[in-house]
Amino acid sequence: MTRIGRQLSIGKTDNTSDQRTPRKRLRLIPTDVRESFVPVIPAKAVQRQNEWDLTRIAQNRPRAEGSPIEVKGTVRNENGTLLRGALIEIWNANHYGRYRHVEDHSGLKLDENFFGIGRVITDEYGNYRFWTISPGAYLARPDIGRWRPKHIHLSISCGSSRLITQMYFPNEPNNASDPMAVLMGDSFDRNLGKPYETIIPEVDRGYDFDIVVGGKNAIFFE
Ligand SMILES: [Fe+2]
Repeated sequence: MTRIGRQLSIGKTDNTSDQRTPRKRLRLIPTDVRESFVPVIPAKAVQRQNEWDLTRIAQNRPRAEGSPIEVKGTVRNENGTLLRGALIEIWNANHYGRYRHVEDHSGLKLDENFFGIGRVITDEYGNYRFWTISPGAYLARPDIGRWRPKHIHLSISCGSSRLITQMYFPNEPNNASDPMAVLMGDSFDRNLGKPYETIIPEVDRGYDFDIVVGGKNAIFFE
């Protein structure tokens, strides 16, 4: 059977990839055409104060539970050009592996000081930086015992493009068996945050995560 454009099941227990992927072959719209008819995101207009700091719901509120971390990097397009004004939306589970979302039925602990959603916009040199709480791993499929390793969800909007992806953490026990990591194969490293020591008192550790949104060096498009 021809399955043009569809993602084949990752393994015997994967019963969702087939329904969640396009039925038809994807068509790439040339960049020149895309840029000509799609409005550019009004960067500065949409960012509110402190949205880059997910470790507090608001200034003067207590810090969320868990280990605060910094994530920073650059955003580039397929030609290697640094992208200013790219909107990065961030969401991750709390310290216990729980999302503040109606579809999270895990029963794990919510943290009243962690909302888990933030936004940041790249500066004129394509740099971004945000703080969050190091997320907990969670049991995504209790029926088959599949865990998701620690990860941060990211949506990157720049010009006419939007890419949704995840940043992983090195040396996590469930990285190798994660369905997305399996799809990435050898390019998994591109989606790994690279740890660095930091002397900033507000965070325990930093992670470099450079994002390429197109071309052969692109990070994984979820
Ligand atoms: Fe997740």
